[in-house]
Amino acid sequence: MRSRIFLIGFMGSGKSTLGKRLAKKIGYQHVDMDQLIEETAGMTIPGIFIEHGEEVFRKWERDILMELCKRDKVVISAGGGAPCHNDLIGIMNRQGTTIYIELPPPVLQERLLHSRTERPLIKGKSESELLNYIGEKLKEREPFYRKAHHIIDGTTLKGEDLAALLGS
Ligand code: S3P
Repeated sequence: MRSRIFLIGFMGSGKSTLGKRLAKKIGYQHVDMDQLIEETAGMTIPGIFIEHGEEVFRKWERDILMELCKRDKVVISAGGGAPCHNDLIGIMNRQGTTIYIELPPPVLQERLLHSRTERPLIKGKSESELLNYIGEKLKEREPFYRKAHHIIDGTTLKGEDLAALLGS
């Protein structure tokens, strides 16, 4: 098994929860990219978007990823947009094993409507606006997500399934 595992996928696809479970199961450290960016910047993700804008956030995502690529035995839950900017999917694919957790828009919508995490890109959207946004954004992002080494159906997925997929 390669020593860096990247979980990628749209907001609300369960990357953080699954990443934690997978890491525990295979004895790796777990890192949530968003959390690490927040700790490093001393600001929340919404705060970063307000103060510095998305472009700066995307640059910081790249910086954090480059740092994470120096670590071994780590499961990394990437931010939803990370693989789709600045060729981060290419870096992830070269530096580890990538897994795309795929979910249909209505399931993502349902999960995001009930999520307590504040996400600047979908803040203030009505239910129907959110579904439209997910559909459009996913269309734009899928070509990047689909470059992952593994694509798995997130509907019934558990941490153990991911471990099995990786042969552990
Ligand atoms: C984003 C997803 C978020 C976070 C930021 C931008 C995106 O991460 O990185 O709000 O562009 O899809 P999650 O996928 O963990 O929600």
